[in-house]
This record gives sequence, structure tokens and C-alpha cells, in this order.
Amino acid sequence: MRSLSTGLSKMRAAAEQPVGIFDSGVGGLSAAYQLERILPAESYVYFGDTARLPYGTRTVEAIRKYSLQDAHFLMSKAVKAILVACGTASSNALGLLSERLDVPVVGVIEGAVDRAYAIAQAGGGKVAILGTAATIKSGAFERALREKDKALRILPRACPMFVPLVENGYTAPDDRVAELIAREYLSDIAAERPDAVILGCTHYPLLSGVIGNILQDSVLVNSSIEAVLRIRDVLHACGLCAPPCAGGADARRMFYVSDDIDGFTENAHRFLGRNIRAELVDIDRY
Ligand code: DGL
Repeated sequence: MRSLSTGLSKMRAAAEQPVGIFDSGVGGLSAAYQLERILPAESYVYFGDTARLPYGTRTVEAIRKYSLQDAHFLMSKAVKAILVACGTASSNALGLLSERLDVPVVGVIEGAVDRAYAIAQAGGGKVAILGTAATIKSGAFERALREKDKALRILPRACPMFVPLVENGYTAPDDRVAELIAREYLSDIAAERPDAVILGCTHYPLLSGVIGNILQDSVLVNSSIEAVLRIRDVLHACGLCAPPCAGGADARRMFYVSDDIDGFTENAHRFLGRNIRAELVDIDRY
């Protein structure tokens, strides 16, 4: 009896622990935003590796090393699960993270692929994948789609200038600079009229207006939303959901960065619609 109640109180304590979220910078805040919306009772600790942004142009080795350090930092904050809110890290380091960490690890690939596949199945069987150079080069989204159906027509496209556009605030649906760059990347994809277009980088939901104007015949799949739905299922399955609280009143949200607190908090406003405070971390210690 005693061990049962000890077990239950341990589970309750674990459920009250925060979710850890990381990205190379602000992009993962698109997932944090969805976590607040979909799972308002959950507390979270967010880490943005702003000192080493962007990840999308790095080697696989660097991405794996940075991702492990980011995750170790989050583990030092006693997180109960980790949401890899970065398409680049999910594509290149998810297996390694799952292997090394003893908490559930969820990336942005699986959920987005499931959703895109469902849309393509009901349509013409065509899916486009937009991501960073390292994400597209890894072939991770493509492999996951092919596992579902070898006959799918898959259109992968690296869009390396999208992250700097978002980081520098060129995100309005009618922004001329963003539109010019997006047309350069997407015009030939638009001509193919894919059923679904996976926004395989967590920065990209902020460019949904610009991208949607060009790919008007396609459904945009926001990988941040799908990843949060996936972590909801995982927390539920592990008995780790935070106890419900009125409108998320008790949820704590903490933000850490490896450089440039001011730049991060300024940008964060565009993702979260409110002011936040962030603390500096020496990520090389992890
Ligand atoms: N948000 C990251 C991703 O989802 C950012 C990319 C980068 O740092 O290049 O891939």
C-alpha cells in the first residue's frame, strides 16, 4: 500500500515538471505558442541557442553535438519530456537524443508527415517539404513519407534564406522582400500544385502568409502544431500530463538563450504576442 502511494506521488511530481523545448533560436517559439494554446496547463522551459544560430547550414556532427548540449541543459532543469522544436535537429539528431535521454523525446517530423500523408492520400498524392539545407539534405522527412507510401510524389526544397527573413522581421504577408525570395524558391513547386506542403522548419509558420500566397492550391502543414499534438499523446500515454489548472494560471514558462537576450525577447514578441524575459546560459558547460 505504502509503495503504491509513493509511486502515485512520484508520478504526480513528475507530471508537474515542465516540458523542455529547444531550437537554434526563436523558431521553436512557434511550438511553444502551440503548447500554450493546446496544453495550457503545461509548464515549459525553452532554450534558444542564439549564439550558434543557424543550425541549418551546419554539418551533421555539429548539429548532433549542439542538440545534445541543448538537451542536457534542459535535463538540468528537470524536464519530464523534450520537444525538439527544430526541424534541423529533429532531422539530424532525434535518434541520438532518444537513445541518450531517459525522458520521452518528440521531434517535428512524425506528426507533420502523418498529417501531410492524410491530406495527400485524399488528394493527388503529392507532398512538398520545405526546410533548411541540413533538413533537406538529411532526407528525414522524405524517408518518413516514403515509409507510408513509396508512390507519393515528393518535392523537397531547401529554403536557406527563410530563417534570416524571420529572424529579421520580414514576415508580413505582403512583405516585398519575403515575397521575392519565396517566389524564387517556390514558383516551380506551385506549378506542381502539391496537396500538402510541410513547413519543416519551426521558423516558417511566421511566413505562412507569404508562402500561402504563392502555394494557394496546397494545404500548409505546420510542423509545430503537429509536434505539440504528438507530445500531448505521449504525455498522456506516460501519465505525465500536468494537472489541469484554470486557464494555465499555474503554468510556469521560462526562457533561456546562449546569446543576445534583447534580440531574442524582441523577436519572441512576434511569436508569442507578449513580452517575455530570458536568461543567459553558458551552453558550453553542458
Ligand atoms: N527552427 C530551426 C529549424 O526548424 C531553425 C533553423 C536554423 O537554425 O537554421 O530547422
